[in-house]
Amino acid sequence: MSEKQEEPVVLEQPSGMVGYVCRTLMGLEPLVSSELEALGAIDVVPGRRSVSFFISEEGLYRFLQTSRFAVRVLRPVFRFKANGPDDMYAKAVKLDWGMWVDPRRSLALDVTVNSPEFPHDQFAMFRLKDAMSDHYQARSNGNGGVHLDINRMEPEQLVHLHIAGEDVTISLDLIGKDALFKRGYRAPRARAPLNEVLTAGLLGLAGWKPGQTLVDPMCGSGTFSIEAGLWTAGVPIHAGRNAWTLYGMPQFNSDLWREVSESARAESISRAPILASDWNKHPVGDARESVRTAGLEHLVRVEVADFLDLKPPRGVEPGLIVLNPPYGQRVHADDLDNLYGGIGGALKHRWTGWRAGLLFPKELEAQHRIGLKPSVKHTVMNGPLSCTWALYDLYKGKRVDHLYGDAKSDSATEVENKVEPEGETVRFRRPRVQGASED
Ligand SMILES: C[S@@+](CC[C@H](N)C(=O)[O-])C[C@H]1O[C@@H](n2cnc3c(N)ncnc32)[C@H](O)[C@@H]1O
Repeated sequence: MSEKQEEPVVLEQPSGMVGYVCRTLMGLEPLVSSELEALGAIDVVPGRRSVSFFISEEGLYRFLQTSRFAVRVLRPVFRFKANGPDDMYAKAVKLDWGMWVDPRRSLALDVTVNSPEFPHDQFAMFRLKDAMSDHYQARSNGNGGVHLDINRMEPEQLVHLHIAGEDVTISLDLIGKDALFKRGYRAPRARAPLNEVLTAGLLGLAGWKPGQTLVDPMCGSGTFSIEAGLWTAGVPIHAGRNAWTLYGMPQFNSDLWREVSESARAESISRAPILASDWNKHPVGDARESVRTAGLEHLVRVEVADFLDLKPPRGVEPGLIVLNPPYGQRVHADDLDNLYGGIGGALKHRWTGWRAGLLFPKELEAQHRIGLKPSVKHTVMNGPLSCTWALYDLYKGKRVDHLYGDAKSDSATEVENKVEPEGETVRFRRPRVQGASED
Protein backbone atom coordinates (compact mmCIF):
# COMPACT_ATOMS: atom_id res chain seq x y z
CA MET A 1 0.00 0.00 0.00
CA SER A 2 1.36 3.37 -0.97
CA GLU A 3 -0.82 5.39 1.42
CA LYS A 4 0.30 6.05 4.95
CA GLN A 5 -1.06 3.59 7.50
CA GLU A 6 -2.79 4.77 10.68
CA GLU A 7 -0.38 4.44 13.57
CA PRO A 8 -1.13 1.89 16.26
CA VAL A 9 -1.70 3.37 19.72
CA VAL A 10 1.62 3.80 21.43
CA LEU A 11 0.61 2.33 24.74
CA GLU A 12 3.82 0.88 25.95
CA GLN A 13 6.11 2.41 28.56
CA PRO A 14 9.92 2.14 28.37
CA SER A 15 9.60 -0.27 31.33
CA GLY A 16 7.69 -2.64 29.04
CA MET A 17 4.42 -1.96 30.83
CA VAL A 18 1.41 -1.86 28.52
CA GLY A 19 -1.66 0.40 28.69
CA TYR A 20 -5.15 -0.97 29.37
CA VAL A 21 -8.57 0.29 30.34
CA CYS A 22 -10.67 -1.43 32.99
CA ARG A 23 -14.40 -0.91 32.85
CA THR A 24 -16.24 -0.96 36.14
CA LEU A 25 -19.45 0.28 37.76
CA MET A 26 -20.11 3.83 38.90
CA GLY A 27 -18.59 4.50 42.31
CA LEU A 28 -16.18 1.56 42.22
CA GLU A 29 -13.34 3.33 40.36
CA PRO A 30 -11.30 3.95 43.56
CA LEU A 31 -11.57 0.25 44.49
CA VAL A 32 -10.30 -0.83 41.06
CA SER A 33 -7.47 1.71 41.34
CA SER A 34 -6.41 0.24 44.70
CA GLU A 35 -6.45 -3.29 43.31
CA LEU A 36 -4.27 -2.17 40.41
CA GLU A 37 -1.81 -0.22 42.53
CA ALA A 38 -1.39 -3.23 44.82
CA LEU A 39 -0.32 -5.18 41.72
CA GLY A 40 2.30 -2.62 40.71
CA ALA A 41 0.28 -0.77 38.03
CA ILE A 42 1.44 2.75 37.24
CA ASP A 43 -0.25 5.86 35.80
CA VAL A 44 -3.53 4.61 37.25
CA VAL A 45 -6.14 7.18 36.22
CA PRO A 46 -9.76 6.76 37.32
CA GLY A 47 -12.34 7.93 34.77
CA ARG A 48 -16.11 7.60 34.55
CA ARG A 49 -16.89 3.94 35.15
CA SER A 50 -13.38 3.14 33.99
CA VAL A 51 -9.76 3.21 35.08
CA SER A 52 -6.82 3.44 32.68
CA PHE A 53 -3.43 2.07 33.71
CA PHE A 54 -0.10 0.58 32.68
CA ILE A 55 0.95 -2.77 34.04
CA SER A 56 3.40 -5.62 33.46
CA GLU A 57 2.17 -8.79 31.80
CA GLU A 58 2.33 -10.71 35.05
CA GLY A 59 0.47 -7.93 36.88
CA LEU A 60 -2.21 -7.95 34.19
CA TYR A 61 -2.74 -11.71 34.47
CA ARG A 62 -2.97 -11.44 38.25
CA PHE A 63 -5.48 -8.59 37.95
CA LEU A 64 -7.61 -10.54 35.48
CA GLN A 65 -7.71 -13.59 37.71
CA THR A 66 -8.38 -11.80 40.98
CA SER A 67 -10.16 -8.48 40.43
CA ARG A 68 -13.45 -8.28 42.32
CA PHE A 69 -14.41 -4.89 40.97
CA ALA A 70 -13.56 -5.07 37.24
CA VAL A 71 -16.33 -5.66 34.69
CA ARG A 72 -14.15 -5.76 31.55
CA VAL A 73 -10.54 -5.11 30.61
CA LEU A 74 -9.65 -3.68 27.20
CA ARG A 75 -6.37 -3.23 25.41
CA PRO A 76 -6.59 -0.18 23.09
CA VAL A 77 -4.65 -0.92 19.90
CA PHE A 78 -5.65 1.75 17.36
CA ARG A 79 -6.73 5.33 17.84
CA PHE A 80 -7.50 7.82 15.06
CA LYS A 81 -9.92 10.53 14.01
CA ALA A 82 -12.80 10.00 11.57
CA ASN A 83 -15.58 12.32 10.51
CA GLY A 84 -18.09 9.60 9.66
CA PRO A 85 -18.47 5.89 8.85
CA ASP A 86 -16.89 6.11 5.39
CA ASP A 87 -13.88 8.00 6.66
CA MET A 88 -13.53 5.44 9.44
CA TYR A 89 -13.73 2.61 6.88
CA ALA A 90 -11.04 4.24 4.70
CA LYS A 91 -8.68 4.53 7.68
CA ALA A 92 -9.52 1.19 9.30
CA VAL A 93 -8.90 -0.81 6.11
CA LYS A 94 -5.25 0.26 6.25
CA LEU A 95 -4.61 -0.68 9.89
CA ASP A 96 -2.17 -3.44 10.70
CA TRP A 97 -4.89 -5.88 11.80
CA GLY A 98 -2.63 -8.89 11.46
CA MET A 99 -0.75 -7.81 14.58
CA TRP A 100 -3.86 -8.16 16.71
CA VAL A 101 -6.61 -10.22 15.12
CA ASP A 102 -6.20 -13.70 13.71
CA PRO A 103 -8.68 -14.01 10.79
CA ARG A 104 -8.78 -17.81 11.22
CA ARG A 105 -10.29 -17.53 14.71
CA SER A 106 -13.91 -16.64 15.46
CA LEU A 107 -14.62 -13.02 16.16
CA ALA A 108 -17.27 -10.66 17.51
CA LEU A 109 -17.44 -6.89 17.51
CA ASP A 110 -19.17 -4.57 19.90
CA VAL A 111 -19.60 -0.85 19.78
CA THR A 112 -20.17 2.25 21.91
CA VAL A 113 -20.87 5.45 20.00
CA ASN A 114 -21.40 8.96 21.27
CA SER A 115 -21.06 11.11 18.18
CA PRO A 116 -23.30 13.12 15.85
CA GLU A 117 -20.99 12.03 13.00
CA PHE A 118 -22.01 8.41 13.58
CA PRO A 119 -25.79 8.44 14.06
CA HIS A 120 -26.21 4.65 13.81
CA ASP A 121 -23.91 2.64 16.03
CA GLN A 122 -24.68 -0.71 14.36
CA PHE A 123 -23.81 0.80 10.97
CA ALA A 124 -20.46 1.99 12.35
CA MET A 125 -19.80 -1.54 13.56
CA PHE A 126 -20.67 -3.07 10.17
CA ARG A 127 -18.35 -0.59 8.43
CA LEU A 128 -15.55 -1.63 10.76
CA LYS A 129 -16.23 -5.28 10.04
CA ASP A 130 -16.17 -4.52 6.28
CA ALA A 131 -12.86 -2.72 6.72
CA MET A 132 -11.32 -5.70 8.51
CA SER A 133 -12.68 -8.15 5.97
CA ASP A 134 -11.47 -6.06 3.01
CA HIS A 135 -8.10 -5.61 4.67
CA TYR A 136 -7.53 -9.37 4.89
CA GLN A 137 -9.01 -9.88 1.43
CA ALA A 138 -6.49 -7.44 -0.07
CA ARG A 139 -3.68 -9.35 1.62
CA SER A 140 -4.74 -12.82 0.57
CA ASN A 141 -3.12 -12.35 -2.90
CA GLY A 142 -5.86 -14.24 -4.69
CA ASN A 143 -5.51 -17.27 -2.38
CA GLY A 144 -9.24 -17.78 -2.01
CA GLY A 145 -9.86 -14.70 0.15
CA VAL A 146 -10.68 -14.50 3.83
CA HIS A 147 -14.13 -14.89 5.26
CA LEU A 148 -14.31 -13.55 8.82
CA ASP A 149 -15.90 -16.07 11.15
CA ILE A 150 -18.32 -13.91 13.14
CA ASN A 151 -19.55 -15.71 16.25
CA ARG A 152 -21.54 -13.59 18.68
CA MET A 153 -22.21 -16.37 21.17
CA GLU A 154 -18.71 -17.66 21.90
CA PRO A 155 -16.16 -15.53 20.09
CA GLU A 156 -12.48 -16.38 20.49
CA GLN A 157 -11.67 -12.70 19.86
CA LEU A 158 -13.69 -9.61 20.73
CA VAL A 159 -13.03 -6.24 19.11
CA HIS A 160 -14.47 -3.16 20.75
CA LEU A 161 -15.14 0.00 18.76
CA HIS A 162 -15.50 3.20 20.78
CA ILE A 163 -16.38 6.48 19.09
CA ALA A 164 -16.60 9.79 20.95
CA GLY A 165 -17.06 12.75 18.59
CA GLU A 166 -14.41 12.17 15.93
CA ASP A 167 -12.15 10.07 18.17
CA VAL A 168 -12.17 6.42 17.22
CA THR A 169 -10.56 3.87 19.56
CA ILE A 170 -10.34 0.22 18.65
CA SER A 171 -9.56 -2.12 21.52
CA LEU A 172 -9.32 -5.81 22.15
CA ASP A 173 -11.52 -7.06 24.93
CA LEU A 174 -9.58 -9.55 27.05
CA ILE A 175 -12.58 -11.03 28.82
CA GLY A 176 -15.06 -12.38 26.29
CA LYS A 177 -18.79 -12.41 25.93
CA ASP A 178 -19.59 -12.84 29.63
CA ALA A 179 -18.44 -9.89 31.70
CA LEU A 180 -16.59 -10.50 34.96
CA PHE A 181 -19.71 -10.24 37.12
CA LYS A 182 -20.69 -13.70 35.87
CA ARG A 183 -18.96 -15.63 38.63
CA GLY A 184 -20.69 -18.95 37.97
CA TYR A 185 -22.29 -19.55 41.39
CA ARG A 186 -25.73 -18.01 40.86
CA ALA A 187 -28.74 -20.34 41.28
CA PRO A 188 -30.74 -20.07 38.05
CA ARG A 189 -34.02 -19.20 39.83
CA ALA A 190 -32.61 -16.22 41.79
CA ARG A 191 -34.98 -13.25 41.60
CA ALA A 192 -33.74 -9.63 41.47
CA PRO A 193 -30.25 -10.51 42.69
CA LEU A 194 -27.67 -7.78 43.02
CA ASN A 195 -24.91 -7.64 40.45
CA GLU A 196 -21.90 -9.52 41.85
CA VAL A 197 -19.37 -6.77 41.04
CA LEU A 198 -21.65 -4.17 42.63
CA THR A 199 -22.04 -6.36 45.72
CA ALA A 200 -18.30 -6.87 46.14
CA GLY A 201 -17.93 -3.11 45.63
CA LEU A 202 -20.50 -2.33 48.35
CA LEU A 203 -18.55 -4.53 50.76
CA GLY A 204 -15.34 -2.74 49.75
CA LEU A 205 -16.90 0.72 50.13
CA ALA A 206 -18.13 -0.28 53.60
CA GLY A 207 -14.55 -1.12 54.53
CA TRP A 208 -15.39 -4.77 55.20
CA LYS A 209 -12.38 -7.12 55.27
CA PRO A 210 -12.15 -10.92 55.30
CA GLY A 211 -12.31 -12.23 58.84
CA GLN A 212 -14.78 -9.55 59.98
CA THR A 213 -18.27 -10.65 60.91
CA LEU A 214 -20.88 -10.16 58.20
CA VAL A 215 -24.61 -10.41 58.78
CA ASP A 216 -26.83 -10.40 55.69
CA PRO A 217 -30.36 -10.61 57.11
CA MET A 218 -32.38 -9.91 53.92
CA CYS A 219 -30.12 -12.11 51.87
CA GLY A 220 -32.39 -13.02 48.93
CA SER A 221 -30.16 -15.18 46.76
CA GLY A 222 -27.22 -14.52 49.10
CA THR A 223 -24.98 -12.36 46.91
CA PHE A 224 -23.45 -10.36 49.80
CA SER A 225 -22.63 -13.49 51.78
CA ILE A 226 -21.21 -15.38 48.82
CA GLU A 227 -19.01 -12.49 47.68
CA ALA A 228 -17.79 -12.11 51.28
CA GLY A 229 -17.26 -15.89 51.50
CA LEU A 230 -15.20 -16.04 48.30
CA TRP A 231 -13.15 -13.10 49.51
CA THR A 232 -12.58 -14.82 52.84
CA ALA A 233 -11.68 -18.13 51.23
CA GLY A 234 -8.92 -16.40 49.25
CA VAL A 235 -10.10 -18.07 46.04
CA PRO A 236 -8.99 -16.13 42.93
CA ILE A 237 -12.45 -14.92 42.05
CA HIS A 238 -12.20 -15.86 38.35
CA ALA A 239 -10.34 -19.14 38.82
CA GLY A 240 -13.29 -21.12 37.44
CA ARG A 241 -13.63 -19.10 34.22
CA ASN A 242 -12.20 -20.87 31.22
CA ALA A 243 -13.27 -18.78 28.22
CA TRP A 244 -11.09 -15.68 28.00
CA THR A 245 -10.67 -13.82 24.71
CA LEU A 246 -7.19 -13.02 26.01
CA TYR A 247 -6.29 -16.61 25.05
CA GLY A 248 -6.89 -15.74 21.37
CA MET A 249 -4.42 -12.85 21.34
CA PRO A 250 -1.15 -13.42 19.48
CA GLN A 251 0.88 -12.19 22.49
CA PHE A 252 -0.82 -14.48 25.02
CA ASN A 253 1.73 -16.26 27.25
CA SER A 254 0.06 -19.44 28.47
CA ASP A 255 2.99 -20.52 30.68
CA LEU A 256 2.94 -17.23 32.56
CA TRP A 257 -0.87 -17.39 32.88
CA ARG A 258 -0.61 -20.87 34.43
CA GLU A 259 2.19 -19.79 36.76
CA VAL A 260 0.13 -16.83 37.96
CA SER A 261 -2.97 -18.94 38.51
CA GLU A 262 -0.99 -21.46 40.55
CA SER A 263 0.41 -18.73 42.78
CA ALA A 264 -2.74 -16.61 42.95
CA ARG A 265 -4.25 -18.20 46.04
CA ALA A 266 -4.32 -15.64 48.77
CA GLU A 267 -4.11 -16.67 52.39
CA SER A 268 -7.48 -18.08 53.27
CA ILE A 269 -9.27 -17.77 56.57
CA SER A 270 -10.93 -21.05 57.37
CA ARG A 271 -13.56 -19.70 59.76
CA ALA A 272 -15.43 -16.45 59.60
CA PRO A 273 -18.85 -15.56 60.83
CA ILE A 274 -20.85 -14.92 57.67
CA LEU A 275 -24.54 -15.24 58.47
CA ALA A 276 -27.21 -14.94 55.81
CA SER A 277 -30.94 -15.08 56.46
CA ASP A 278 -34.23 -14.15 54.84
CA TRP A 279 -37.80 -14.54 56.05
CA ASN A 280 -38.82 -16.21 52.82
CA LYS A 281 -37.79 -19.87 52.50
CA HIS A 282 -37.61 -19.73 48.68
CA PRO A 283 -34.67 -17.32 48.39
CA VAL A 284 -33.08 -19.12 51.34
CA GLY A 285 -33.18 -22.30 49.21
CA ASP A 286 -31.59 -20.44 46.28
CA ALA A 287 -28.94 -18.91 48.54
CA ARG A 288 -28.06 -22.34 49.97
CA GLU A 289 -27.74 -23.77 46.48
CA SER A 290 -25.43 -20.92 45.41
CA VAL A 291 -23.35 -21.28 48.59
CA ARG A 292 -22.92 -24.98 47.74
CA THR A 293 -21.99 -24.21 44.12
CA ALA A 294 -19.42 -21.70 45.33
CA GLY A 295 -17.98 -24.31 47.75
CA LEU A 296 -18.59 -22.08 50.77
CA GLU A 297 -20.68 -24.24 53.08
CA HIS A 298 -17.90 -24.15 55.68
CA LEU A 299 -17.96 -20.34 55.74
CA VAL A 300 -21.53 -19.17 55.12
CA ARG A 301 -24.62 -20.17 57.14
CA VAL A 302 -28.06 -19.49 55.65
CA GLU A 303 -31.26 -19.51 57.71
CA VAL A 304 -34.90 -18.55 57.56
CA ALA A 305 -35.49 -15.59 59.92
CA ASP A 306 -37.35 -12.32 60.11
CA PHE A 307 -34.81 -9.53 60.48
CA LEU A 308 -37.06 -7.80 62.98
CA ASP A 309 -36.75 -10.76 65.34
CA LEU A 310 -33.04 -11.26 64.71
CA LYS A 311 -30.47 -10.62 67.43
CA PRO A 312 -26.76 -10.10 66.78
CA PRO A 313 -24.82 -13.35 66.93
CA ARG A 314 -23.19 -14.09 70.31
CA GLY A 315 -19.51 -14.62 70.84
CA VAL A 316 -18.29 -12.70 67.78
CA GLU A 317 -16.87 -9.24 67.32
CA PRO A 318 -19.49 -6.83 65.93
CA GLY A 319 -18.87 -6.33 62.23
CA LEU A 320 -20.94 -5.26 59.26
CA ILE A 321 -24.67 -5.81 58.77
CA VAL A 322 -25.81 -5.32 55.16
CA LEU A 323 -29.37 -4.75 54.02
CA ASN A 324 -30.81 -4.59 50.54
CA PRO A 325 -34.50 -4.38 51.49
CA PRO A 326 -37.36 -4.55 49.00
CA TYR A 327 -38.03 -1.08 47.64
CA GLY A 328 -41.51 -1.00 46.35
CA GLN A 329 -42.23 -2.89 43.20
CA ARG A 330 -44.07 -5.56 45.14
CA VAL A 331 -44.65 -3.78 48.45
CA HIS A 332 -47.40 -1.25 49.29
CA ALA A 333 -46.23 2.31 50.13
CA ASP A 334 -47.51 2.19 53.75
CA ASP A 335 -45.81 -1.07 54.28
CA LEU A 336 -42.55 0.32 52.90
CA ASP A 337 -42.72 3.09 55.51
CA ASN A 338 -43.21 0.44 58.18
CA LEU A 339 -40.44 -1.71 56.77
CA TYR A 340 -37.84 1.06 56.68
CA GLY A 341 -39.01 2.42 60.06
CA GLY A 342 -38.71 -1.11 61.45
CA ILE A 343 -35.21 -1.52 60.04
CA GLY A 344 -34.08 1.80 61.56
CA GLY A 345 -35.62 0.85 64.91
CA ALA A 346 -34.07 -2.62 64.92
CA LEU A 347 -30.63 -1.28 64.01
CA LYS A 348 -30.81 1.37 66.68
CA HIS A 349 -32.03 -0.89 69.45
CA ARG A 350 -30.31 -4.18 68.75
CA TRP A 351 -27.19 -3.60 66.68
CA THR A 352 -25.24 -1.12 68.77
CA GLY A 353 -21.53 -1.36 68.07
CA TRP A 354 -22.04 -2.57 64.50
CA ARG A 355 -21.62 -0.83 61.18
CA ALA A 356 -24.69 -1.07 58.93
CA GLY A 357 -24.90 -0.67 55.15
CA LEU A 358 -28.29 -0.04 53.55
CA LEU A 359 -28.91 0.04 49.82
CA PHE A 360 -32.04 1.84 48.63
CA PRO A 361 -33.13 3.91 45.61
CA LYS A 362 -32.12 7.56 45.87
CA GLU A 363 -35.69 8.73 45.41
CA LEU A 364 -37.29 6.32 47.87
CA GLU A 365 -39.58 8.25 50.23
CA ALA A 366 -39.49 5.54 52.87
CA GLN A 367 -35.76 6.11 53.49
CA HIS A 368 -36.75 9.01 55.76
CA ARG A 369 -38.33 6.48 58.12
CA ILE A 370 -34.96 4.90 58.91
CA GLY A 371 -34.33 7.72 61.38
CA LEU A 372 -30.56 7.26 61.57
CA LYS A 373 -27.91 9.56 60.20
CA PRO A 374 -25.47 7.88 57.82
CA SER A 375 -21.77 8.51 58.43
CA VAL A 376 -21.09 8.11 54.70
CA LYS A 377 -23.28 7.94 51.61
CA HIS A 378 -22.16 6.57 48.24
CA THR A 379 -24.12 6.80 45.01
CA VAL A 380 -24.11 3.62 42.95
CA MET A 381 -26.18 2.25 40.08
CA ASN A 382 -28.18 -0.89 40.72
CA GLY A 383 -28.95 -1.71 37.09
CA PRO A 384 -30.66 1.43 35.77
CA LEU A 385 -31.64 2.63 39.25
CA SER A 386 -29.60 5.30 41.00
CA CYS A 387 -29.17 4.13 44.58
CA THR A 388 -27.69 5.25 47.86
CA TRP A 389 -25.35 2.97 49.79
CA ALA A 390 -25.69 4.50 53.22
CA LEU A 391 -23.28 3.48 55.98
CA TYR A 392 -24.25 3.92 59.61
CA ASP A 393 -21.97 3.61 62.61
CA LEU A 394 -24.24 2.34 65.34
CA TYR A 395 -22.12 3.52 68.22
CA LYS A 396 -23.25 3.95 71.78
CA GLY A 397 -23.72 7.43 73.12
CA LYS A 398 -23.88 10.68 71.21
CA ARG A 399 -22.28 11.06 67.84
CA VAL A 400 -20.12 13.92 69.03
CA ASP A 401 -18.78 11.77 71.91
CA HIS A 402 -18.04 8.99 69.47
CA LEU A 403 -16.21 11.30 67.09
CA TYR A 404 -14.09 12.74 69.91
CA GLY A 405 -13.54 9.45 71.70
CA ASP A 406 -15.66 10.23 74.75
CA ALA A 407 -18.50 7.75 74.39
CA LYS A 408 -20.09 6.59 77.64
CA SER A 409 -20.01 2.85 77.30
CA ASP A 410 -23.02 2.29 79.53
CA SER A 411 -25.31 4.84 77.95
CA ALA A 412 -28.23 3.80 75.84
CA THR A 413 -27.96 4.16 72.07
CA GLU A 414 -28.77 7.74 71.32
CA VAL A 415 -28.82 8.84 67.77
CA GLU A 416 -29.06 12.53 67.00
CA ASN A 417 -31.75 12.10 64.42
CA LYS A 418 -34.29 10.74 66.82
CA VAL A 419 -36.03 7.44 66.47
CA GLU A 420 -38.85 7.30 69.02
CA PRO A 421 -37.78 5.04 71.87
CA GLU A 422 -39.60 1.75 71.73
CA GLY A 423 -38.02 -0.13 74.61
CA GLU A 424 -36.68 -3.61 74.01
CA THR A 425 -39.34 -4.73 71.56
CA VAL A 426 -39.24 -3.31 68.08
CA ARG A 427 -42.86 -3.00 67.06
CA PHE A 428 -43.42 -3.44 63.38
CA ARG A 429 -46.30 -4.36 61.13
CA ARG A 430 -45.09 -6.75 58.49
CA PRO A 431 -45.43 -5.54 54.92
CA ARG A 432 -47.53 -7.56 52.53
CA VAL A 433 -44.94 -8.83 50.09
CA GLN A 434 -46.58 -10.82 47.34
CA GLY A 435 -45.35 -14.36 47.26
CA ALA A 436 -43.39 -14.06 50.49
CA SER A 437 -43.75 -16.90 52.89
CA GLU A 438 -43.51 -15.80 56.47
CA ASP A 439 -42.20 -18.95 57.98
C1 LIG B 1 -34.17 -7.01 47.20
S1 LIG B 1 -34.17 -8.60 47.91
C2 LIG B 1 -32.49 -8.89 48.34
C3 LIG B 1 -31.71 -9.38 47.15
C4 LIG B 1 -30.32 -9.83 47.52
N1 LIG B 1 -29.46 -8.73 47.87
C5 LIG B 1 -29.70 -10.65 46.39
O1 LIG B 1 -28.63 -10.29 45.87
O2 LIG B 1 -30.32 -11.63 45.99
C6 LIG B 1 -34.91 -8.27 49.46
C7 LIG B 1 -35.09 -9.49 50.33
O3 LIG B 1 -35.51 -9.06 51.61
C8 LIG B 1 -36.34 -10.09 52.16
N2 LIG B 1 -37.10 -9.50 53.30
C9 LIG B 1 -38.04 -8.54 53.26
N3 LIG B 1 -38.46 -8.28 54.52
C10 LIG B 1 -37.76 -9.09 55.37
C11 LIG B 1 -37.71 -9.26 56.78
N4 LIG B 1 -38.49 -8.56 57.59
N5 LIG B 1 -36.84 -10.15 57.28
C12 LIG B 1 -36.03 -10.88 56.46
N6 LIG B 1 -36.06 -10.77 55.12
C13 LIG B 1 -36.88 -9.87 54.57
C14 LIG B 1 -37.17 -10.53 50.98
O4 LIG B 1 -37.71 -11.82 51.17
C15 LIG B 1 -36.15 -10.46 49.82
O5 LIG B 1 -35.57 -11.73 49.60
